[in-house]
Formats: sequence, structure tokens, C-alpha cells
Amino acid sequence: MALSLNNAGPVLRIKTPDRKPIIAYEKMKEMLIDDGLFDYDEILTDDVARSVCIFKKEGIKFVMKLGNHEPRGDTTKFNLLKNEDKVYLHLYNKLGLEYQKYFPAIIDSGSSNEKFYYIIMEFIDGITLYDYVNESYKKNTVRSKIEVYTILLNLTKALEVMYSTGIVHGDLSVENVMIEKDRSVKLIDFEKSSKDIKLAVNTVGSTRLNINRQDSEGIGYFFLVLKLLSVINSRNTALIKGIKNIIEDCEQSGNCVNVYAECVQLIRGVLTSNNSKTKRNKRVGGGGRTIKATR
Ligand SMILES: Nc1ncnc2c1ncn2[C@@H]1O[C@H](COP(=O)(O)OP(=O)(O)OP(=O)(O)O)[C@@H](O)[C@H]1O
Ligand SMILES: [Mg+2]
Repeated sequence: MALSLNNAGPVLRIKTPDRKPIIAYEKMKEMLIDDGLFDYDEILTDDVARSVCIFKKEGIKFVMKLGNHEPRGDTTKFNLLKNEDKVYLHLYNKLGLEYQKYFPAIIDSGSSNEKFYYIIMEFIDGITLYDYVNESYKKNTVRSKIEVYTILLNLTKALEVMYSTGIVHGDLSVENVMIEKDRSVKLIDFEKSSKDIKLAVNTVGSTRLNINRQDSEGIGYFFLVLKLLSVINSRNTALIKGIKNIIEDCEQSGNCVNVYAECVQLIRGVLTSNNSKTKRNKRVGGGGRTIKATR
């Protein structure tokens, strides 16, 4: 509040915060079209609540995220998208082509006269980890071990690559991991990501470790590991314990530099051993001996 003096004595004047007018989602889209920054042949889905739109242009699908000055916690969606854009730029600058596959390609981004922020990116033809796990629960289907371990390996590799650039995701949830048909994984939603976040509980590990929970709350790498492994029939407790140990070591020592690389090594070992077990079973007509996972 500011105090001003006039003839009638001191008067309290409420200082209105410097608030920019909030533009609604549809209006933002219209303004981008008027500015020649957005053009589409067909809108496929419009998630107004999230300000995310999937559209088609010349037969290709794209995703557009829009952010206005609406408060989001202690910031705004505008600032979150600006941060996300900066993080993508950092990842692409730091990584070679072979590692960029773990993130969607950014087609265009920027602000429309500082009124709102937009990011147009590659459409990932896949489903979120949330949908993958939920589909299994709903249809009561058991996924193959090889498939699930491959997805886990790809997820962990994506995190290893991301972390090699110094970035911590900060919002690692089942909705921010996309799985493609060939089981490759792409990380999305870098709104809260930063180089200044420390890898710790809730970024690598999670306080919610109950694998039997059917909901999809919780964040952190370990939570995703548990969610993913819950869709296979027999739980590989050695793998879960192994990953837990690696995470606990990093959290206790405060040295997490190799946390994802170590998990990649562990998962790769389990996958290789399962692959050869499957091949051996096929050769002997399905009656092969069970072999222990080796590292
Ligand atoms: N590049 C993409 N390709 C395909 N689908 C995407 C892509 N980006 C986002 N999505 C879908 O849109 C959803 C929301 O996107 P995103 O996670 O980036 O926004 P958000 O910040 O979580 O939105 P909010 O915080 O408002 O809920 C994702 O969970 C995913 O289903
Ligand atoms: Mg998200």
C-alpha cells in the first residue's frame, strides 16, 4: 500500500498490482492467427482447461500449448511456458541428434506482444504412461515383461540424457511421459524444469511407495518405476530393490550424478537376461529352466 499526502491529510491509496488482462484460450488462438503465427487445416482436440490443442496442417499433426497471465501457484502459465521453451532450447543445444529423440521437436514458440506465450511442437503419436497403466487396469490385461522392461529402460535412458545436460524435470508424473508404439519414450511438460533443482525425494525417489495404489498420484522416478512394473504379472522384487538402493545411495550421499546411468545398467541386465530366457524357452518348446537375472 502507498501513502500519499493531500490537503485533507494523509490518505491511504490501494496500490493495484501490475496485472495484465487475462486473455481466454480461444481469443489467444484467434490473435495468433491474426498475427500470422498460427495456421491450421483442422483442429483435432481442444483441451480448453489445459490450453492445449492438437491440430493438423498439411496432413501433419502438431500440438500447441498456450499460456496467459493467469496465476499458477506463485507464478503464471505465461512464465511456465516461457521456462519450458528455455528448457527445450537448452536440451537441443546440449544434445546431439541421436539424443534429441527423447523429447518432442519444437516447431515455433514465443510471446504474442507479451500478452501470452505459445509453443508449437511435434505431435507424439503415442499414449501417456497414465493411459498405458490405466488401460491395463481397466481391461485387466497383463503386459509382457519384455515390453515393460523395454519401456522402463527407454524412460530411464531419457532421464539419463536429460540429466546429463543438468536439467531436473521437476514434474515427473505419469501424464508427462509418452510411450510410442515402438515402445520408445518421450518426456514432455518441462514447465517446472530447471538446472537449479536438486535431485532428491520427489524428483528421483518418492515418498509414496505403495505399489498397490491404483491411482496415479505421486511424482518422481521411483513412483513411475512402481507404476510401470505394476502391470506385469510377477513383480521383479530384485529389480525394484536394486533401483531403490541406487536411489537411496544417491539421496543419502547427495551425489546423484550417476543415478540414472546406474539404473539403466541394472535394467539393461534384467532385460537381456529375460530376452535370452524367452529365446531359450522358445527353443525348448516353452519348458526352459528359470534363470536368475544377472548383472
Ligand atoms: N507433443 C505432444 N504430443 C502428444 N500429446 C501431447 C504432447 N504434449 C502434450 N500432450 C498431451 O497433452 C497433455 C498436457 O500437456 P502438458 O503436460 O504439456 O501440459 P500441462 O502443463 O500438464 O497442462 P496443465 O498443467 O494445464 O494440466 C499431456 O499429458 C499429453 O496427454
Ligand atoms: Mg503435464
